[in-house]
Amino acid sequence: MTDTASAASHLAAAPPLRPDAPWLAPLAGYSDLPFRLLCREHGAAACCTEMVSAKGLLYHSPGTRDLLATTQQDAPLILQLFGADAEIMRRVMPGLMEQGFRWFDLNMGCSVPKVVKTGCGSAMSRDMDNALAVARAMVEVAGEGRVGFKMRLGWQAGEETWREMALRLQDAGAGWITLHPRFARQGFSGEARRSALRELAAALSIPVIASGDLFTAADAVRCVRETGVATVMFARGAMNNPAVFDEYRVLLAGGQPPPPDADRLKALIRRHLELALAHSGERTALLKMRTFVPRYVRHIPGVRALRNRLASCLDRDLLEELLETHLTPQAFAEDGGSAGAATTDPHGEARP
Ligand SMILES: Cc1cc2nc3c(=O)[nH]c(=O)nc-3n(C[C@H](O)[C@H](O)[C@H](O)COP(=O)(O)O)c2cc1C
Repeated sequence: MTDTASAASHLAAAPPLRPDAPWLAPLAGYSDLPFRLLCREHGAAACCTEMVSAKGLLYHSPGTRDLLATTQQDAPLILQLFGADAEIMRRVMPGLMEQGFRWFDLNMGCSVPKVVKTGCGSAMSRDMDNALAVARAMVEVAGEGRVGFKMRLGWQAGEETWREMALRLQDAGAGWITLHPRFARQGFSGEARRSALRELAAALSIPVIASGDLFTAADAVRCVRETGVATVMFARGAMNNPAVFDEYRVLLAGGQPPPPDADRLKALIRRHLELALAHSGERTALLKMRTFVPRYVRHIPGVRALRNRLASCLDRDLLEELLETHLTPQAFAEDGGSAGAATTDPHGEARP
């Protein structure tokens, strides 16, 4: 049963910080309860919620509380907040603790204009003292080691705030730092600067989590080995392929993940639909599936017709029929067997 953390003993579970325990990143519009449960079934060791506005919680903005939906299976869970006002954090955090939430993250990396123009997300790198005040307010309520901070290199080239910011956050009681090593102004362009992850992991005594350009299991294994970070966080890699967590674990342990397979992908999509239907009405669930399924099948050249027809599908029987008709071994074979391996255009996102 979905609840907003009323029967919330699961929320006490501590998120693991080890290389063999990959996390699901906070993903606005994507890391909702059904998707988190799906990723957990495929090896995600901890999941972050979508970013939740602290102000929205305080002023009861429509829809904000829905983002807090969770269930017993949804653990360990990290609630990501965004907000740049320490006083608002101080007022909102105790209520969240009362509902059972114990592990938090502050979004200091989002570069979407609507977030940045309010001084939140990556704009927080431009006023470090205020960012520290917000961080302290969160740690004061949640406790030392219970709040992570997710940041970028700084606002733009020439404004490299990440070293100082991370050290000061560590002093303020941060539990971990997640670094997406790009500048806010870069959005998703250019490449994530992996050397910064290595430097930060060596400089801090608290764990560092890597984010950025982790599209495949192989990307993440390379990253964790090259940088010495505590663990990795899959974002677009998971949106394209929720099985990436299991694939990463197998690869890290020296094994070989199984090749992509039509029946397995169909089973994954059916399971996602089942979870979505269990936690929302049919229309909402199918609208959500319309955002996910095209990503799951995007690397399979033989299913272009499926992607087109999905765009208007609001009927679960039709979705099932489309999967059966179009998601065939032949469609996979047209790609020479590499379909679903989830190497992607790293610059295809319009989001932070
Ligand atoms: C659709 C989308 C939504 C995102 N939402 C959030 C968010 O709510 N909070 C956050 O801190 N980062 C958010 N991010 C950033 C990701 O968590 C991650 O840091 C970024 O995508 C880099 O990782 P990747 O290159 O492996 O995708 C979002 C990214 C995408 C693509």
